[in-house]
Amino acid sequence: MKFSKCGPLRGEVTVPGDKSVSHRSVMFGSIAKGTTEIHNFLQGADCLSTISCFRKMGIAIDNKGDTVLVHGRGMHGLRKPEGILDCGNSGTTTRLISGILAAQDFTVTLTGDASIQKRPMKRIVDPLSRMGAKIRSIQDNGCAPLEITGSPLQGIRYLSPVASAQVKSAILLAGLFAEGETRVTEPELSRNHTELMLSRFGADVHTENTTAVIRPAPELYGQKILVPGDISSAAFFLAAGLLVPGSEILIRNVGINPTRDGILRVCRKMGADLTLLGVNQDAGEPVADLLVKSSHLHGITIGGAIIPTLIDELPIIAAMACFAEGETIIRDAAELKVKESNRIDVMVRNLSAMGADVEETADGMIIRGGRPLSGAVIDSRLDHRIAMTFAVAACLAEGETEILGAECVNISYPGFYQDLERLVQ
Ligand code: S3P
Repeated sequence: MKFSKCGPLRGEVTVPGDKSVSHRSVMFGSIAKGTTEIHNFLQGADCLSTISCFRKMGIAIDNKGDTVLVHGRGMHGLRKPEGILDCGNSGTTTRLISGILAAQDFTVTLTGDASIQKRPMKRIVDPLSRMGAKIRSIQDNGCAPLEITGSPLQGIRYLSPVASAQVKSAILLAGLFAEGETRVTEPELSRNHTELMLSRFGADVHTENTTAVIRPAPELYGQKILVPGDISSAAFFLAAGLLVPGSEILIRNVGINPTRDGILRVCRKMGADLTLLGVNQDAGEPVADLLVKSSHLHGITIGGAIIPTLIDELPIIAAMACFAEGETIIRDAAELKVKESNRIDVMVRNLSAMGADVEETADGMIIRGGRPLSGAVIDSRLDHRIAMTFAVAACLAEGETEILGAECVNISYPGFYQDLERLVQ
């Protein structure tokens, strides 16, 4: 797909539902009693993988487009699927579902695409095994495919070496079925959608600083879930609106949960003209409209506790830093290497190809802004956030940019290119 420099962005856009919240609503709905009604569900390939896995385990799910009805069968209602469970490109599906499967009374194999089969699963295999699960990497390489035989579980106290909501959630979900209390302590707080939503479904879960605590649940109960717009999708328009001179856009209905809003804090620190309007809690999570006006940005240092709150936004932040004055340092972000692609490597290669001054470090990158970018051929490595990042960079670069594998945006944002085009016209 080819892109070239664009004029100012104007008007309004409503980004699709949050990916993390959409996944969880189907998973928790499936093991709850009664029907869960989900509004603004993200119809991206990742969330459709979650729906397909639970359908294979006997859960009736009516996907009516914007609304999804999950007819839950209770804590012990899942059935052994025929064949393997295919998690596609979705790390969230693979890791969270493993926590649930660890406690069922059947054996199941789960796997996914080439990217999923390279991503680290030892981080969930180790704690789930300590809880009593029988779970193994079939090729003994710490990756999917995984074979899981459900077993009686015991609660644990787990000190997680990484701030990962996927690891935390897998353990908490296993903890729902375990004997006794389960505690997961993270080095920094990761996104807390699991804790918030499980509590709404009736689980006994709470947080003490960076520790999440759960007690076994006799039953969860179906809920009505309103999925906020995904801040990780909004981030691309936020960046484009700030960077393309003369832009003014309103991004409607964006989830601004404080464990996800690092991008807003970073933009403000870089000098962004960014206003939150109509803040409300109607979705059970904080939501706002973002008013974005083009701004003169300057470089900053990003590291420490803010990293998990903007982990998926670091590719677009790195691109933004190329247009900011001075140096931007991203550190404490080694987790980027084990996302859908190695996002440090892919960002450094592709930004360099466009002429940016960017240097790879052990746990991030250093970007010296101010050099004009020029169009280039960009290999997205089929990583949705890389493709969207370079579609935005292309809006600011001289000449033509070609993005290879551009269709991978369907993972989290079908319709992304159309929405971008509409704002530009
Ligand atoms: C997610 C958590 C994050 C994030 C991913 C979605 C989730 O991964 O990168 O896109 O829904 O829990 P980690 O928890 O592994 O950092």
